[in-house]
Amino acid sequence: MKTLVILAHPRFESSRVNRALAEAAEGEQGVTVRRLYELYPDGVIDVEAEQTAVEAADRIVLQFPMYWYSSPSLLKQWQDDVLTHGWAYGSKGKALVGKALVGKELLIAVSPGAEEYGREGAFTYTVTELLRPFQATANRCNLTYVEPFATIGSMRISDEQLAERARQYAAALTAPRPALDRLG
Ligand SMILES: Cc1cc2nc3c(=O)[nH]c(=O)nc-3n(C[C@H](O)[C@H](O)[C@H](O)COP(=O)(O)O)c2cc1C
Repeated sequence: MKTLVILAHPRFESSRVNRALAEAAEGEQGVTVRRLYELYPDGVIDVEAEQTAVEAADRIVLQFPMYWYSSPSLLKQWQDDVLTHGWAYGSKGKALVGKALVGKELLIAVSPGAEEYGREGAFTYTVTELLRPFQATANRCNLTYVEPFATIGSMRISDEQLAERARQYAAALTAPRPALDRLG
């Protein structure tokens, strides 16, 4: 399996968690990491280069620290620019014309700093619920949405736990992963 990691961290130099995960990913066979904020410091995304990278992959991983219950802004820009009509989605009559992503998987690798998710927590919603826009995007683009890799409470993770998490991430990137159904 060929896995493409789209890494979006606006302050990668001060990242602890995503740096450890990304470095583990970069050492894996079959895994390519594209660091969006380094590729596009001016925020202007090379759509053709991104689409070519996506087309070559079987699984697309969006890796990011949770920012305001969502992703850093350049990842949203990436979605807005790269997932074009006629490539990622769209149909003419009954014929599907946006077929580039059919048969590929989408894996979200997110690191919420806090832990208080779910009905009993201060943030009310689960991380799975907060990731629904990504799941809806996967559905729209005929991507298979696989179980997210969420490192919850990442702000307080110990060095030992982080090292173990990075090992798990490296292994998970190319391993089979259960798909979530639309309400899962
Ligand atoms: C602008 C900003 C917004 C953040 N928003 C959230 C949030 O909504 N939920 C949360 O759990 N953590 C939030 N955090 C904490 C980060 O998710 C956390 O510090 C990060 O995932 C740790 O990974 P890193 O070491 O790679 O930066 C936020 C941090 C920043 C700087």
